[in-house]
Amino acid sequence: MSLSSLSAQPEDPLLHIIEQYSADSRPDKIDLGVGVFRDPHGHTPVMAAVSEAEMRHWKTQQTKAYVGPAGDRHFVTLLGEEALGDASLLARGCGVQTPGGTGALRLAAEVLAAAGVKRLWAAAPTWTNHLPVFAAAGIESRLVRVFDPAEGVYEADRFLNALSDAEPGDVVLLHGCGHNPTGLDPNAAQWESLADRLAERRLVPLVDMAYQGLADGFAEDAAGALAVLRRAPYALLAYSCDKNFGLYRERTGALWAFAPDAPGARILESNMLAKARVNWSMPPDHGAAVVRLILEDSALKRCWHEELDGMRQRLTGLRAALARGGRIGSVDCSVLGRGRGLFATLPLSPDHIRRLCEDYAIYMAGSGRINIAGFTDEGAVATFLSALREVLA
Ligand SMILES: Cc1ncc(COP(=O)(O)O)c(C=O)c1O
Repeated sequence: MSLSSLSAQPEDPLLHIIEQYSADSRPDKIDLGVGVFRDPHGHTPVMAAVSEAEMRHWKTQQTKAYVGPAGDRHFVTLLGEEALGDASLLARGCGVQTPGGTGALRLAAEVLAAAGVKRLWAAAPTWTNHLPVFAAAGIESRLVRVFDPAEGVYEADRFLNALSDAEPGDVVLLHGCGHNPTGLDPNAAQWESLADRLAERRLVPLVDMAYQGLADGFAEDAAGALAVLRRAPYALLAYSCDKNFGLYRERTGALWAFAPDAPGARILESNMLAKARVNWSMPPDHGAAVVRLILEDSALKRCWHEELDGMRQRLTGLRAALARGGRIGSVDCSVLGRGRGLFATLPLSPDHIRRLCEDYAIYMAGSGRINIAGFTDEGAVATFLSALREVLA
């Protein structure tokens, strides 16, 4: 065995799309492949509250000494209160800061693996990095086809039925809101049924909350997660601040572990800290400090919430414009109006996707996933709909 035995790993296909898009000189090109929020100018802005908090941080920061494996504890406390707003749930939970939502998921996977968990159940399709993160920690995944992007429905019963085969202690991955890649979230009744089934089968929920505030509203977006977390004696919540604070490259997130009581949660925390120590040792500080400064100051917090509301309204407006496209061949655009958040998956063939790119300069993932924020405005939506009519004619 040596390093020379390794073979090259496949390139991330989205990186290839990004390169192709940048090299395309057609003026009306549309980039629906990106994974980040974009404003009507096609920029991913630094949010105003973030800029202000950064300025305050530069002026007041006294040291660059290590933050410790748990990160910024005040950030974690304030974020937990803001995101969940449930003191009794938080009293039986412990949180640690992580490098982004991915770091939170990886830490969750390592703690679960250390606890002897072998299997993760997830509804398919799911974010492309989910299964590799768990596989890297030695946890196998069972995927259950639940979403039908063509019909625009989340078939909760299929997932509930499949979970009858899960063993007590298996982990169930749930997207908190703004499902990536379909934009289709369970409704309130379906969240309740999931909470019931998980409790009945003694399964451990792992909620991945990467888009709070970008789906239905900040508090509304936590409702499903809360329904599940409150019912489960043991549960995990992986949280990303990278989208809702626009902090992407600052790698800002947290992982909470919930137990039946506070002493149980402290045991889980000590395991999270031990795993953090052997992975990144200590998380980066900047993004968490910025979020803390925003959440500590009521005026700054209001400014951030207003901007986040504006981002969500932009997505809702674009979704409504897309929905007005009606049915175009195999694509029922009204489904896009029923979805939430950044993403939707269109039932398009590889040939349709290639033609949209080659003939109309419209770029999207090979899976048919589109980022709604990739449309600068309703004019771009109209361009897209007419290209879709041509390609699907
Ligand atoms: C569903 C989901 N979970 C987690 C993440 C990871 O977020 P982060 O960039 O904070 O690592 C993403 C990012 O795209 C995501 O879509």
